[in-house]
Amino acid sequence: MCGISAVTGSEDIVAILYESILNLEYRGYDSCGLGVVGNGNVTVRKNTGGVEEVNRKEHLTKLKGKTGIAHTRWATHGKVSRENAHPHNSADGQFSIVHNGIINNYEDLRDELMAQGVVFKSETDTEVMAHLLEKTFQETGDIEQAFIQSVKRLEGSFAFCMVSARSQQTIYCVRQGSPLVLGLGTKSNFVASDVNAFLQHTRKALVLEDGEYATVTPDSVTVRKTADGSLVSRKPIRIEWDAETSRKGGYAHYMLKEIFEQPQTIRNALAATQEGVERIASQIRERRDTYMMGVGTTHYVAQAGQYFFSSLAGKYLPVVSSDEFVDLAVVGPQDMVMAISQSGETYDTRRGIAHAKDQGARTASIVNVMGSSLSMSTDEVIMQGSGPEICVVSTKAALAQMVILLRLALETGLQEGTLAAEQYDESYSHLKALPDTVTAVLNERSGFVRNLADKTVGYRNWLMLGRGIYYPMALEAALKLKEITYLHVEGMAAGFLKHGTLALVDEEMMSFFLVPTPEEKELNQHTISAIEEVKARKGPVIGIAFENDKRALKLLDHAIELPPTPPLVAPLLELVVAQLFSYFSALKLGRSIDKPRNLAKSVTVG
Ligand code: G6P
Repeated sequence: MCGISAVTGSEDIVAILYESILNLEYRGYDSCGLGVVGNGNVTVRKNTGGVEEVNRKEHLTKLKGKTGIAHTRWATHGKVSRENAHPHNSADGQFSIVHNGIINNYEDLRDELMAQGVVFKSETDTEVMAHLLEKTFQETGDIEQAFIQSVKRLEGSFAFCMVSARSQQTIYCVRQGSPLVLGLGTKSNFVASDVNAFLQHTRKALVLEDGEYATVTPDSVTVRKTADGSLVSRKPIRIEWDAETSRKGGYAHYMLKEIFEQPQTIRNALAATQEGVERIASQIRERRDTYMMGVGTTHYVAQAGQYFFSSLAGKYLPVVSSDEFVDLAVVGPQDMVMAISQSGETYDTRRGIAHAKDQGARTASIVNVMGSSLSMSTDEVIMQGSGPEICVVSTKAALAQMVILLRLALETGLQEGTLAAEQYDESYSHLKALPDTVTAVLNERSGFVRNLADKTVGYRNWLMLGRGIYYPMALEAALKLKEITYLHVEGMAAGFLKHGTLALVDEEMMSFFLVPTPEEKELNQHTISAIEEVKARKGPVIGIAFENDKRALKLLDHAIELPPTPPLVAPLLELVVAQLFSYFSALKLGRSIDKPRNLAKSVTVG
């Protein structure tokens, strides 16, 4: 969603502030702005476009000052326009704010303020806060009081940073349902939606919790409860990510870099807490049901997990997409709900977990971002350790989550007795060998994948097909391809195709098959039947298949051939190749790969 940031220091901070929203740009990128305190007011420069584009138009980096706020927007209330971009100032120019989230009662507040003669410049819900600040300050004469009293009038889920010309070196910020982290530097302090904003400057972070606000100066940070002003004392955490990982490092796009980082993210996922895996596995065995929940990519990750648990542990785990969870899942104190989330901040997933808690269920999560809401609010958490994922579409984080789910399923199977110790050891050895296989395939097959993508990218309509465990992989591969190419891609179970969608197949509909290994006999055979069904209707067919699968290779018009691979990890390897295929297709089409139109990486609104 939107990215907010604030910096205060003993020297000029404008370059640092500008860099911070460049680092947060993946959260939203339709417009942005900076507000810097100095000479008795707050100077705001903002416009539509990405951060670098706005800098070219508005010369953001020419501003000067020691305290400021910044914002990169993903529009919710009001169109993409200069007026609606943040920061928003009060009418007297004394208060300036940036906001992430939604104010539910903004219409009532706006009517009330307009009745008092306030003229609104934007269509945003945010602007009410700027005017409330000015009004409340007139009554109280105290900035902190004005801030808190104004916040208390707001309903919804939000995070704010505010600066004022009346207090030149203080940032006021509050968290109520949207993420906010403080970065503790030397002679400078930071506030931001996530740690990527300030990782170059400090790895010491203090995570605000909902219902807390902070006052931040270059050499002090004070956290209090919004409700009663009582002091909160909390130890800072150390962020283990290094700033270099969040840079592009020679790759043309973050997506490509993140695809190529996957051997390492698999290793990190294998190194994540074994105690946590064992505890969650034993909970899965004890609980009546363990629901898995995610949305977008993480929903498909959860679906892949379902196949792992069924096949390895003989357990069926229900999966519900986070956005439907509250309306569909039936959970109680005997159940567990396990959320999967890269950001740990996704609104729908957090809402699902809050619902699960209300119903008395135990909660667990697999999360990438340290200090994120889900990582802090679930009873059990496995930090996947994939490092910053900057591209809006998820690749390395999703693969790592699948590896952790495989570990959980293997552990549950071992504890349950559906897997013998030798089977467990053998499976684990396949997982351990996967990083090297991924490296080899990426190095050896990229050229072929690129050529194939170049050849086929003219097709406007696509089916992405797989069966069994290759079905969720096909769903995720379809999401990848559509997100970054804007082509119409439908992911589907290969067996389901003949029950309706086959009607769409003709020379212009491209079908992409994820073919199982020949060792998975029935799955492989059924998938090949589906390829034949498409070919019989003159549909072009391409796909991913294994070198030792002569039948599939003969049938497919073009195939990306992979070395023989153990069935346990073969679907993961195919997913990596499908990610790469999506990347090269989007590259050929000249799309905005790291920041596809209309999307945001972290969707923190409902
Ligand atoms: C957004 C992103 C998706 C992501 C989903 C869930 O929709 O665009 O790429 O899969 O959120 O995000 P999470 O951070 O919870 O994994």
